[in-house]
Amino acid sequence: MTGAAVNPRSRVLVIGGGYSGLRFGRAAAALGAQVWLTRRSDSSEPTGSATEPSLHWLPYDSSQGPPAAPPSDLTHVLVTTPPAPPAGGDAEVGEAVIQHWLRPLRQQPLQWLGYLSTTGVYGDTAGAWVDETSPTTPGLGRSRLRLESEQRWLSSGLPVQSFRLPAIYGPGRCPFNQLRQGTARLVHKPGQVFCRIHVDDIVGALLHCAARPRDQRPPVVNVSDDAPCPSSETLGYAAHLLGCKLPAMQRFDAVAPSLSPMALSFWADNRRVSNRLLCAELGYRLRYPSYREGFAASMREENASGLA
Ligand SMILES: NC(=O)c1ccc[n+]([C@@H]2O[C@H](COP(=O)([O-])OP(=O)(O)OC[C@H]3O[C@@H](n4cnc5c(N)ncnc54)[C@H](OP(=O)(O)O)[C@@H]3O)[C@@H](O)[C@H]2O)c1
Repeated sequence: MTGAAVNPRSRVLVIGGGYSGLRFGRAAAALGAQVWLTRRSDSSEPTGSATEPSLHWLPYDSSQGPPAAPPSDLTHVLVTTPPAPPAGGDAEVGEAVIQHWLRPLRQQPLQWLGYLSTTGVYGDTAGAWVDETSPTTPGLGRSRLRLESEQRWLSSGLPVQSFRLPAIYGPGRCPFNQLRQGTARLVHKPGQVFCRIHVDDIVGALLHCAARPRDQRPPVVNVSDDAPCPSSETLGYAAHLLGCKLPAMQRFDAVAPSLSPMALSFWADNRRVSNRLLCAELGYRLRYPSYREGFAASMREENASGLA
């Protein structure tokens, strides 16, 4: 079987043209592909769309029912939509997305479908390393929903690969503005680390994996950088790049009661995610092996694009 590299003959659909989806769509368009992206509202054009004629926007909101007219002859699909949290809103979003798209996608000449999952499916390992063979014991409700969605996509019969992601950062998603505005918090929890990935390494890993022959694509791939570390370390480096002072260090135990349930949930899991499969076995070379290169590049892009 041959690979499925994105090229000028490719017709690419991104279900969920948000932060990572749009970045992937732009990269596919730069390779010459025709690209369709979905978003929930059609009230306003996303920034830059007027100057990006190869990106076609389609309205799709899983809570409103199936998409009107999916594009035909699709070769590549990326699904970025998250499953809905159990409380509030539509608890079936993950399933609804699959239900809406499975039949139309089965009628397409699909070569590759990427699903964006999360490393939260591994649960808490008290800081120990996990790889793709590790047990999936998600502690958080949203990670349990994610695992269910991932398994449904993987058993769909389509050429699916699931990419498990830690915290996504990049231009517009670094702590620079919080530091500038004085809202950043320097919190220390002994032994706690976080993993992260620059959005352009997600895009790079997706394109790298799609280009492999179908029978040489692992169904599940972690996409994480080489440098799990405490958030105090990354905040310190961001402050260094900005040339500004760090806020005073606070102990996690002292601030925990004031954190929202969502903020608290980010501290619930502690694990180190291995990228050995992606980088050593599949041969992907990270553009940003750590937050140091990634933050510096993000700051340059923010400054150049007026995001700062
Ligand atoms: N952010 C992180 O640090 C992180 C870490 C690990 C995994 N992930 C997961 O990785 C994926 C990509 O992350 P991201 O930060 O790029 O996500 P994002 O910017 O929030 O984009 C998600 C996309 O899904 C669409 N969407 C959400 N709910 C929908 C619904 N009910 N019906 C139809 N479309 C819906 C959004 O539509 P609109 O454009 O209309 O909003 C958006 O285009 C997500 O599934 C996320 O949960 C994220």
